[in-house]
This record gives sequence, structure tokens and C-alpha cells, in this order.
Amino acid sequence: MSTDAVHVRLADTRDAQGIALMSRDLIESGLGWRYDAPRVARGITDRDTVALVACEGRRVIGFAMMQFGEERAHLALLAVRPTYRRRGVARRLVEWLVESAMVAGIATVHLELRESNQAAKRFYRAMGFSETALVPGYYQGKEAALRMLRVLRRPGTVPYSWRPPRLDPH
Ligand SMILES: CC(C)(COP(=O)(O)OP(=O)(O)OC[C@H]1O[C@@H](n2cnc3c(N)ncnc32)[C@H](O)[C@@H]1OP(=O)(O)O)[C@@H](O)C(=O)NCCC(=O)NCCS
Repeated sequence: MSTDAVHVRLADTRDAQGIALMSRDLIESGLGWRYDAPRVARGITDRDTVALVACEGRRVIGFAMMQFGEERAHLALLAVRPTYRRRGVARRLVEWLVESAMVAGIATVHLELRESNQAAKRFYRAMGFSETALVPGYYQGKEAALRMLRVLRRPGTVPYSWRPPRLDPH
């Protein structure tokens, strides 16, 4: 697969079932299935949530979902199918979301991941996130969560001089 063959777009409700199955198998395995199709569909249609899919042709090979608050955004879901990993797909998804967050004036992006998930920890570090806390038993008392954070601007009132970043036209 060349990276050029992959495109990223907003998810629509027809993607909900596929995203939910990937969440069950790639993110939530062993924890119970919280992000089932109805919940994912609610996220896709929620005005304060951005849901993205990465596709090769019509096949969805990765997805991400981020909830936007006033100043904080929460990256709730991110996964790429195993055979498509280490090709920059998750990077493209997260860059889209982080650029959206910057334009929206978000100060900090937060996420949790399973403490044992070394690949994701390394990925998020590579994307500029830092560990902030370990939360024992976060996942239904079964596993600790690591919280990570990326600061986009100083939290608090937006200074008058602040302007959204100029985005690369590509
Ligand atoms: C974490 C995950 C989303 C990364 O997806 P990906 O498309 O393979 O990531 P990318 O190719 O964009 O990686 C970008 C950079 O992150 C780092 N990285 C990604 N995966 C890594 C790994 N397994 N080990 C070390 N570094 C890694 C590297 O610096 C990589 O750049 P490089 O390939 O040029 O070295 C993917 O492994 C996955 O879906 N895991 C299962 C679900 C999951 O853990 N989701 C996140 C927690 S909810």
C-alpha cells in the first residue's frame, strides 16, 4: 500500500458499524464493548465530535474520534488495522484532529490508553503528547490507564492577539 492510496474523510453514519467492530477488536478487547454501533453513530452525528476514517479505496483501514469542549478536546478512539500500521495512517488522522483543535481555539488535547499499550504510548509521544497520570483500575477495575496530554496553547482566556494558526494549504 502506498500512503498516497489512503485518503482521510469525515465519517458518516454508514461507517458506524465498521468503526464499532474495529473498536471492539483493536481497542476494547478483553474489556467489554462500550463503543458499539449506536454509540459510534451518536458520536458521528454529535456536533461537538469529529469522527474520521482513513480508507484505501472503499475499505476503512483506520478511524479516530475526538470530542471538542470549550478549551479541552478528548481523543476518545483511534485505531488502524494491523496490516496497515507504521505507514503514517494514524499520524494523518491525529494531525487532522489537532489542526481542527487549533483552529477551534482548543488549549489542550487529552486521552487515555491502556497502561500496557506500548505501541500507542510511543505513537502518542511521537505526536507530541506527554504522560500526566496513571489511573489504577480505570478500565472496569481490570487495567490501569495512562493519561496523556498535548498542550496547544496556554489554557485560560484567549488573548486578544491570538489568531488561528496558518495551515499548510496542502
Ligand atoms: C497506535 C496506532 C494507532 C498507531 O497507528 P499507525 O498508523 O501504525 O501509526 P503511524 O504509522 O502513524 O506512526 C507514527 C509514528 O508513531 C510511532 N509509532 C507508531 N507505532 C509504533 C510502535 N508500534 N512502536 C514504536 N513507535 C511507534 C513512530 O514514531 C511512528 O513513526 P515511524 O513509523 O516513522 O517510526 C496503532 O498501533 C493501533 O491501531 N493500535 C491499536 C489501537 C490502539 O492502541 N489505539 C490507541 C489507544 S486507544
